[in-house]
Amino acid sequence: MVRPLEARDVDAWTRMRARLWPDADAVSLASEARAFVAGLPETILAAAFLAEDEEAEALGFVEVAVRPFSDGCDSMPVPHVEGWYVEPAARGRGVGRRLMHAAELWASTCGFKEIASDTELHNESSRLAHEACGFEEVDRLIKFRKPLLFIARAPLG
Ligand SMILES: CC(C)(COP(=O)(O)OP(=O)(O)OC[C@H]1O[C@@H](n2cnc3c(N)ncnc32)[C@H](O)[C@@H]1OP(=O)(O)O)[C@@H](O)C(=O)NCCC(=O)NCCS
Repeated sequence: MVRPLEARDVDAWTRMRARLWPDADAVSLASEARAFVAGLPETILAAAFLAEDEEAEALGFVEVAVRPFSDGCDSMPVPHVEGWYVEPAARGRGVGRRLMHAAELWASTCGFKEIASDTELHNESSRLAHEACGFEEVDRLIKFRKPLLFIARAPLG
C-alpha cells in the first residue's frame, strides 16, 4: 500500500532517508522529515508518500519538491522527485513504480503537466528504473563547489 506520509511515519522515514543519503547529516534528515509532517516551512518538500506491507512495515518512500525550474522541462515551476527509495529486500516487486505513480498522481492533481527527477551518473539501476517508469533522459551534468575563504568586509552592492 502507498499512502501519504504522516507524523507516525517519521522514524521509519528518517531511517530510510539515512540509507538513501548515508553522507547526509542525520539530524538534518530527521528535522526536515519532522518539519514536513508538521507542515512547517523549514523544508522544500511539497509531498511525500510511504509504501508499507501488510504488517505496516515501511518498504520505501518517494518525496517531491516543487522547484522553480528543472533542466530539460518545459514548465516552471515543476515538481521534482527529491528522493525515491525502496528497501533492498523489497526491490524488483513493483513498490518503486507504485511510489512513483503516487508522486505523479499528486503532481497531476495539482495541475502540473510534467515531473522531473535526477540521479547520480553512476547509478545505473536508478537510471533504468526511471526509464522503465516512463522518464526520458534530458541532460547530464557535472557539479562543482569551491569554498569561499574571504572574510566579507562590506555588504555586496
Ligand atoms: C530505484 C528504486 C526506488 C526502484 O524501486 P523498485 O521497487 O525496485 O522498482 P520496481 O520494482 O517498481 O521497478 C520499476 C521498474 O523499474 C525497473 N527496474 C527497477 N530496478 C531496475 C534495475 N536495477 N535494472 C533494470 N530495471 C529496473 C523494473 O524492471 C520496473 O520496470 P518493469 O515494470 O517494466 O519491469 C530502488 O531500486 C532503490 O531504492 N534504489 C536505491 C535508491 C536509488 O537509487 N533511488 C533513486 C535515486 S533518488
